[in-house]
Amino acid sequence: MISNNILSFAKSVLCEVLHPGCIGVDATVGNGYDTVFLSEKAGPDGHVFGFDIQEDAVNQTEQRLNEECLPANWTIFHSGHENMLELIPSEFHGRVNAVMFNLGFLPGSDKTVITKSKTTLAAIEASLDLLAKGGMLCIAIYAGHPGGDDEDVAVREYCNALDYHTYRVIQSEMINKPGHPIRMLFVTKL
Ligand SMILES: C[S@@+](CC[C@H](N)C(=O)[O-])C[C@H]1O[C@@H](n2cnc3c(N)ncnc32)[C@H](O)[C@@H]1O
Repeated sequence: MISNNILSFAKSVLCEVLHPGCIGVDATVGNGYDTVFLSEKAGPDGHVFGFDIQEDAVNQTEQRLNEECLPANWTIFHSGHENMLELIPSEFHGRVNAVMFNLGFLPGSDKTVITKSKTTLAAIEASLDLLAKGGMLCIAIYAGHPGGDDEDVAVREYCNALDYHTYRVIQSEMINKPGHPIRMLFVTKL
C-alpha cells in the first residue's frame, strides 16, 4: 500500500520518469534508501549521483548500495547539494530524469544538522538546470523543527514563482498527520 506513506507515494509518482538507463540525483542521501531506489531504477546503463554533508551518511549509503548488490552505477559526493552543478560532469547536464530532496534532519542522527533555506534553494535552482525535458524534481518538506518552517515557506515560495510555461508544480500533503503536515512538491520540466 503506497498511500500510507507519503515517501512511497512520491516514489510511485517518480516511477513515471524513471526507466532503465535513466539518470537520477539523490540530493540528500541520509541513510541511502532513496539512493538505492534510484540505483535500482537506473540499472547498469544508468547512473545516480548522491550528496550529503555528513560523512556518516555518505559511508552508510555506500555500504547500503554495496550490500544490495546493485550495479556500480552510482557516485556519492561528500558535499553539499548546492555544489551539484560543479560536481556532476557536464555530459549529464540537461539529461537528468529525476532529482529527489528529502529535507530536514536525518532521523536517528544529529538533529542539529539540517538542510537550510539558502543552500536548498541554490540546489533546487541547480537541479532545474540539470533536469531533462520531462524530468521531475521531488521535494519532501518537513516543518516544525528549528529552521524547518523558514525552509518550508522559502521552498514553496520559490516553486510557486516558477514559470508555468516551463515548469508544472504539484503539491501533495499528508494533511491529517498530527502536528505539521508533510509536504511533497513535484516539479516537472516541460
Ligand atoms: C531527511 S535526511 C535524508 C534521508 C534520506 N533520503 C534517506 O532515504 O535516508 C536529510 C539529509 O540531508 C543532509 N543535508 C543537510 N544539508 C545538506 C546539504 N547542504 N547538502 C546535502 N545534504 C545535506 C543531512 O545530512 C541529512 O542526511
